[in-house]
Amino acid sequence: MLGNFIYSNPTKIYFGDEAHKNLVEALSGFGKKVMLTYGGGSIKRNGVYDDIIAALTAAGKEVVELSGVMPNPTVDKLIEGCKVARENNVDFILAVGGGSTIDYAKAVSVSAWYDGDAWERFWVKQEDPKPGERIIPVGAVLTMAGTGSEMNGGSVITNHATKMKIGKVFGEEVMPKFAVLNPRYTFSLPHRQMVAGIFDTMSHIMEQYFSGDDDSTSDYLAEGLMRSVIASSRVAVKDPENYEARSNLMWSATWALNTLIGEGKSQDWMVHMIGQAIGAYTDATHGMTLSGVSEAYYRHIMKYALKRFARFAHVVWEIPTESKSDEQLASEGIDALAAWIKDIGAASEITSLGVTEDMLDGIADATIILTGGYETLNHDEIVEILRKSL
Ligand code: NZQ
Ligand code: ZN
Repeated sequence: MLGNFIYSNPTKIYFGDEAHKNLVEALSGFGKKVMLTYGGGSIKRNGVYDDIIAALTAAGKEVVELSGVMPNPTVDKLIEGCKVARENNVDFILAVGGGSTIDYAKAVSVSAWYDGDAWERFWVKQEDPKPGERIIPVGAVLTMAGTGSEMNGGSVITNHATKMKIGKVFGEEVMPKFAVLNPRYTFSLPHRQMVAGIFDTMSHIMEQYFSGDDDSTSDYLAEGLMRSVIASSRVAVKDPENYEARSNLMWSATWALNTLIGEGKSQDWMVHMIGQAIGAYTDATHGMTLSGVSEAYYRHIMKYALKRFARFAHVVWEIPTESKSDEQLASEGIDALAAWIKDIGAASEITSLGVTEDMLDGIADATIILTGGYETLNHDEIVEILRKSL
């Protein structure tokens, strides 16, 4: 463990199949006017909405609803939410949904009282709010496990006009004050969304794991989480209402991206950068954009970190080392990852997400190139990875 860091996470977690019963208490420390934010209506069909309204009523809150947050929330929707929050002078935003709804709530939280172009300031220029600027506090009720948004400062917004999908990681002041994690709330997820969330979780861990070559506690934590995700995924795809598996998947997703396992490390995140660029072009499901490019990406960078990939194969996928070379073991680890992607039903390629050959250059141009991984990609390498992922 070589890095210096300060670790703090202010989000209070209420976990379990009775977690929602804590909502009244959780809301009590905040103001009266609550903006209830949710997506396209799944919470009305699965009964979660009724639980939330009951809690808001019991807590004596005045509720302003803002629904219709789409997967991969857009700048236009952000502008709408800011208007509603400001006109109603809301004291608190309660986001009920998956990563899109929670990311969106954070975006409104920092943007509502800013008079300029929030997209340009927070996402394009990656600025932080200044001390003293008004930020509306956010709470979350999670209905889809995967992004980790419930316990982090991330907020990913899409701008269709400029074909950009950008994530901004805000500080503690924007992170949810609390998050209600009831695994039963995820039972109604369509199979495809559950699988997308599972792969998103795995990808978050791999993005942090595939970097550095020191002996780091963070990597051992990452390996444990990956083993748990793989084991629970195999149960959940066959038996989606298996509470044990779904609760493990929910908790693993939270820990995969609440900053703990990245502490003291450089990090990669290139699968996400490529995935986000694909998302900007196709609006495809986030987790599927990652699964679609992962095999080609990891085969590409494997040669720069054979020891780490060999360790991944042995520790995470339990592939016997026998007398294999690091290269062989590393390659078998990626085979295992690719087989698992197929087994759970995640996308193995990007053609099914709407990507066509003529888009590859543009997607590569829209990919933000980061330098924390084992190799810094150039434009042509990204095109090559995309082509192999078709
Ligand atoms: O809108 P509703 O009707 O609620 O339906 C949603 C949506 O269609 C549905 N859904 C969610 N919970 C459900 C349910 N359907 C039935 N039952 C339930 N219990 O699932 C669909 C997808 O939801 P969404 O919130 O879009 O999915 P996810 O949680 O994967 O969030 C994706 C967004 O998060 C960003 C992604 O880029 C994308 O914009 N990310 C956020 C991160 C962060 N904050 O740190 C990191 C991630 O890497 C990611 O980039
Ligand atoms: Zn992700």
